[in-house]
This record gives sequence, structure tokens and C-alpha cells, in this order.
Amino acid sequence: MINKIKQEILNEIEIYKNNSDDHYDFWNEHIKYVYKEAIRLSEIYKADRTIVELGALLHDIALIKQVGDRKGHHTNGAELAKELLEKYNFPKDIIEKVIGCILNHRSCKNATNLEELCVCDADILAHFDNIPMLFNSAFNRNNVKLNDVRTWMRECFEKDYNDLSDKTRKLFESRYKEICEIVLGE
Ligand SMILES: [Fe+2]
Ligand SMILES: [Fe+2]
Repeated sequence: MINKIKQEILNEIEIYKNNSDDHYDFWNEHIKYVYKEAIRLSEIYKADRTIVELGALLHDIALIKQVGDRKGHHTNGAELAKELLEKYNFPKDIIEKVIGCILNHRSCKNATNLEELCVCDADILAHFDNIPMLFNSAFNRNNVKLNDVRTWMRECFEKDYNDLSDKTRKLFESRYKEICEIVLGE
């Protein structure tokens, strides 16, 4: 059943890639990393893997389907995910928990259970897994100059790191320092 949802998301991503101005590949640039990190965290924290997998796959569905604006993508995404999960007859309690993951993925401070925490922490860890995408964002989306890219990147890293839940921040601390050392030369 999860594979059916994964296929639905892959199809929507393909549609976005072919029809959008930026041709952004949501799967290879973002979702696959969130999915991988969320599963890893669900094992460490003993969270419900089904909920976490579905939450990770669907958390940005409103961005992918271009429904509403970025500001409201968590609430729009919750509605879209509900429709999709109902279409595949997922049990009500699972649907409700997945919706919670989507509604609360914008800040780890909002997480109300372990499954929500896995998804929002994974959403952040995905940035550290895809540093080339951050350079693309610096140079091509934000017009950052080479002189300023370290400062810009440091601010991104720091913000992400501080946004993690307390326990994942602790778990990730040494890796974070290694990444800063390698990427920023610090
Ligand atoms: Fe998001
Ligand atoms: Fe995301």
C-alpha cells in the first residue's frame, strides 16, 4: 500500500518536473532524502514506520501539486493527503496520524508525537544530505556572490541545526560539525 502512495507521489513529481518553470526534481533533490532520514529516525526512536513513511512521502504534496501558496502548504497538503489516503482505503487512525505529520512538519517545536518529530527532523536533515542543492539555491535562486556564500551557507546550516528537535540535534551534533568543517572550512 505504501508503494502505491510512493508511485502516486512519483507521478506527481514527474508532472511538476515537466510542466513547471524551474523543472525542479522534488524526488531526487528533496523527498528521497526526507524519506530515507525519516525511516532511519523511526528506527532509532521506535516510531511507527508506516505513519512516518507516509508522512515523509506526502509532507510536501501541496508544493508538488502546486495547490495554494508555500505559506499554506502544510494545511493544503493535509487535505490532499487525506483525499489520497481515503482513495486507497487506509484506516481512519492512520490517516489522522499522517495528517498530523503533514500539518506539523514546518517546525519541530510543533511536533506532538514521535512520528511527527521524525518527519520534521528528516525534512531538515535532508538539506545536509544534499549540499549541491544548497549551492544551487545560493547562486541561482538567491543570487549570492562567491564572496558571501560561506556566510550565507553558515546561516542556513545554523538555522536548520537549531530547528531540529533537541534529541535529534544531540544525535547529529558531531556530523554537523564535520559538515561545517568540510563545507565551510571551519
Ligand atoms: Fe514543507
Ligand atoms: Fe520538505
